[in-house]
Amino acid sequence: MNYRHAYHAGNHADVLKHIVLARVLEHLKKKDKPFRVIDAHAGIGVYDLGGIEAGKTGEWEGGIGKLVEPFAPEIEALIRPYRDVIATLNVGDSIRLYPGSPELALRLMRMEDRMIANELHPEDAITLERHFIRDFRVDVTSMDAETCIKAKLPPPERRGVILIDPPYEVKNEPEKAVRMLAHGLRRFAQGVFLLWYPIKDDDTGASIIDGVRDLGVAATLKVEIRVREAFAAGGLAGSGLIILNTPWTLERDLEAIVPALAERLGLGNWGHGAVEWLVPPK
Ligand SMILES: C[S@@+](CC[C@H](N)C(=O)[O-])C[C@H]1O[C@@H](n2cnc3c(N)ncnc32)[C@H](O)[C@@H]1O
Repeated sequence: MNYRHAYHAGNHADVLKHIVLARVLEHLKKKDKPFRVIDAHAGIGVYDLGGIEAGKTGEWEGGIGKLVEPFAPEIEALIRPYRDVIATLNVGDSIRLYPGSPELALRLMRMEDRMIANELHPEDAITLERHFIRDFRVDVTSMDAETCIKAKLPPPERRGVILIDPPYEVKNEPEKAVRMLAHGLRRFAQGVFLLWYPIKDDDTGASIIDGVRDLGVAATLKVEIRVREAFAAGGLAGSGLIILNTPWTLERDLEAIVPALAERLGLGNWGHGAVEWLVPPK
């Protein structure tokens, strides 16, 4: 396992993923009933953007670094929960600490909600465990994400969100990601599943989109932001998220957020966002 998220934390892909995750959590909180977050690829929780790893790539500067100026008030209102978590972690207006998905989720959860934060990398799993040790709402596990999904679904609350966020460093990961969704849906058909995928100069994104569309789950939404041209060996040109069992207000929220975010995150005139049903709601 070579991938370490510390090199990429706060980049344009994290910004999109975390804004969507925060909106999903806000939706789940509209009902009093508790829910569970299952973060199958959790990382280490909080990232130091002033640290060696983040400094080596500087990726955050093309992500959260571009969100310093506020958006229009209606967009700011929608991303407020995400902004508030970042503000809580930092002093003043500068952003040194960036919340990964389990930290963001935990800070948006209520006392009665629960989380399983799973991370396979042994060192990162220890860091994560230490980070969350004082919060009784979190259970940190260290297993393969597919095993985690099979073992931990359905959640006892029968409500929840499952984040599948693989690094895609192994060749079979696109198929595995779709398989995880299929296993997860068999066990927890009503769960909100979020699957992240990269946009690069290859067919990773397309094969995932086709695979998920074939699952035929009503209310499957795709959201993408491209920030630059994709070219061979050029790395990440953008990213996407597929949301299954999409909460009913999310499409409307993302239709507002995504164009503004794409314009802000794109290089030159490259920024382009799209929100599209892969399978429409019933
Ligand atoms: C993209 S990062 C996760 C970022 C995190 N979800 C966030 O948004 O802050 C992917 C993580 O998955 C972990 N990982 C890689 N393969 C895994 C596997 N098979 N099962 C569980 N975790 C895995 C990596 O060590 C890495 O920390």
